Amino acid sequence: MKISSYSPIGIFDSGIGGLLIAKEIKTHMPNECIIYFGDTKNMPYGDKSKEFIRNHSIKIASFLYKKKCKAIVIACNSITSNALDLIQKEFYKKILIFNVIDPIVKNKIFLSSKKIGIIATPATIRSNFYQKKIKKYFPHLEIIQISTALLAVIIENGFEKKKINSIIEYYLNHFQSIDTLLLACTHYLFLKNKIDNFYHGKVRLINIPKIVVQEIKNKLLENNLLCLHPKWNNPTVFYTTSNSISPFFNEQVRILFGEKILFKKYFFNLF
Ligand code: DGL
Repeated sequence: MKISSYSPIGIFDSGIGGLLIAKEIKTHMPNECIIYFGDTKNMPYGDKSKEFIRNHSIKIASFLYKKKCKAIVIACNSITSNALDLIQKEFYKKILIFNVIDPIVKNKIFLSSKKIGIIATPATIRSNFYQKKIKKYFPHLEIIQISTALLAVIIENGFEKKKINSIIEYYLNHFQSIDTLLLACTHYLFLKNKIDNFYHGKVRLINIPKIVVQEIKNKLLENNLLCLHPKWNNPTVFYTTSNSISPFFNEQVRILFGEKILFKKYFFNLF
């Protein structure tokens, strides 16, 4: 399969979470073509079994590979922590595979931390993926993690300001004296400002999209795959797997990507 710098980047998540990663890619690499895939029919992934997540995510990665993507970005922590090994093995030496966890856990930002909190989906917490990786690079760190099962679905469907604040309070009251909090689910990135307000800016929230996209840009450059000139006037394409998507998803796509967008449906046999 012929891949060049003009080939698209495929990005996938269970739903809207990966949109903020896709937006960061568009901001820092404006010439890139993006194909976004949200498995909205099966969202949330966070309460699914490891087997389910592996079966579905490999199908989506294969779909993006067949679309001739030069790179695939797993913009979902639940998928990364449960299926990264499988996806990497399948596409080894074929295309670049990126994820939202590896660039974070090795980031020097943790050198100045002592105690960090992690909020994530049940599937991510169950995998213990973060704990193991962070401890490998930063053994001095004390880590507390909780699964915040309700959040992703509430965010996917748009959230009422008042209700979300009390849910955020309920969850974050579990964390005492942390200096850094990791929003370890891409859906939670939509709550960054609210969580920042909860802590009055006293707890550091890591800028995940920025760190992840910096890594993607460096690797594309290294591999001569960064698109330096726009070739096509292609719209950003959004595949979803349900008959209808939430109004919030729709609204965010329009806010983040403007007018040059194209929605498509995709129904896998498996789903
Ligand atoms: N955005 C996904 C993540 O980063 C999870 C959302 C879901 O549970 O589907 O883990």
